Amino acid sequence: MKAFQVKRYGKKEKLQLTNIAEPVVKENEILVQVHAAGVNLLDSKIRDGEFKIFLPYKTPFTNGHDVAGVVTKVGSKVSKFKIGDEVYSRPADFRIGSFAEYLSINENDVALKPKNISMEEAASIPLVGLTAWQALVEKANLKAGQKIFIQAGSGGVGTFAIQLAKYLGAIVATTASSANFDLVKNLGADIVIDYKKDDFENILKDYDVVLNSQDTKTLEKSLRILKPNGKIISISGPPDVDFAIQLGMPWFLKLIMKILSSGIKIKAKRLGVNYSFLFMRADGNQLTEITSLINSGIIIPVMDKVFPFEQTNDAMAYVEAGRAKGKVVVKVK
Ligand SMILES: NC(=O)c1ccc[n+]([C@@H]2O[C@H](COP(=O)([O-])OP(=O)(O)OC[C@H]3O[C@@H](n4cnc5c(N)ncnc54)[C@H](OP(=O)(O)O)[C@@H]3O)[C@@H](O)[C@H]2O)c1
Repeated sequence: MKAFQVKRYGKKEKLQLTNIAEPVVKENEILVQVHAAGVNLLDSKIRDGEFKIFLPYKTPFTNGHDVAGVVTKVGSKVSKFKIGDEVYSRPADFRIGSFAEYLSINENDVALKPKNISMEEAASIPLVGLTAWQALVEKANLKAGQKIFIQAGSGGVGTFAIQLAKYLGAIVATTASSANFDLVKNLGADIVIDYKKDDFENILKDYDVVLNSQDTKTLEKSLRILKPNGKIISISGPPDVDFAIQLGMPWFLKLIMKILSSGIKIKAKRLGVNYSFLFMRADGNQLTEITSLINSGIIIPVMDKVFPFEQTNDAMAYVEAGRAKGKVVVKVK
């Protein structure tokens, strides 16, 4: 089968289109014929070698973290899916590889695809949907009436997180450039700040939750808009000890993560707010809940562009440019 592989780590390295063997299906896995693969900044960071220290993929390996497709084989112990099911997934770390014609995935990391959206739209959801779910529902326990600031509302995570926060009954502030105001307002954002003109720190105060996805300066400013005991969940770092524990890292990496996050943790503590880092993980049960929200029209996918499979490297470059409105997807079949 055809697959786009990382042959060598590096910023200037392109994924190589290669013919490789079809994946072997273990007893608790399903084989998915990939129809579409979502593109994420994580794919580029993995290719660049930025995450090699805690996600040491051995080259060559197939890249790609989001998939939608059809089940073509099931392992002997699979109980949740059957051949012919339309599914989607963010496979677990070390089981990635959606930039390929087939991918085998543990059934616990898979959910049935929402019925009312296309394969391309479905492939845009798992990674950003689970990120928003784990930040807002699991970590923040966001409740109706609470105020949340979601940075970069027009991006992949932002477009999903705004809709989820509104569904949970929160009041949502976001940042966007003026060209994307209508997009984020239509998704439900209550307060929209033009990040090119205005400083959110002068406008927002007493927030319960911040979803941070930007740089260190933005992170530090965000601490100051929280009310006492407010929570800031960062998906763009710095990583903390819990993350090291989640990935089963050895003690010296735990120590490094502790050191990396100590500065922001101290600043947060001084202000009486809580800092935590989130590195999203695969979860088929949470994805099933997301399927229900999409099936009932509560959350809609926001798509920027679909690239043909052959142009997977161009799709990654488009995402790396940082201007995507919603999600970018590669059509594989
Ligand atoms: N830890 C995790 O588990 C996890 C999971 C998912 C994503 N992430 C990380 O989270 C970050 C965001 O991911 P993403 O997929 O949502 O990114 P994305 O879709 O590539 O974000 C692009 C969007 O961000 C907007 N933007 C850029 N700079 C901005 C700024 N300073 N203020 C407000 N908006 C801005 C752009 O709008 P304009 O064109 O108008 O500037 C564009 O619409 C990335 O660093 C990604 O790696 C982490």
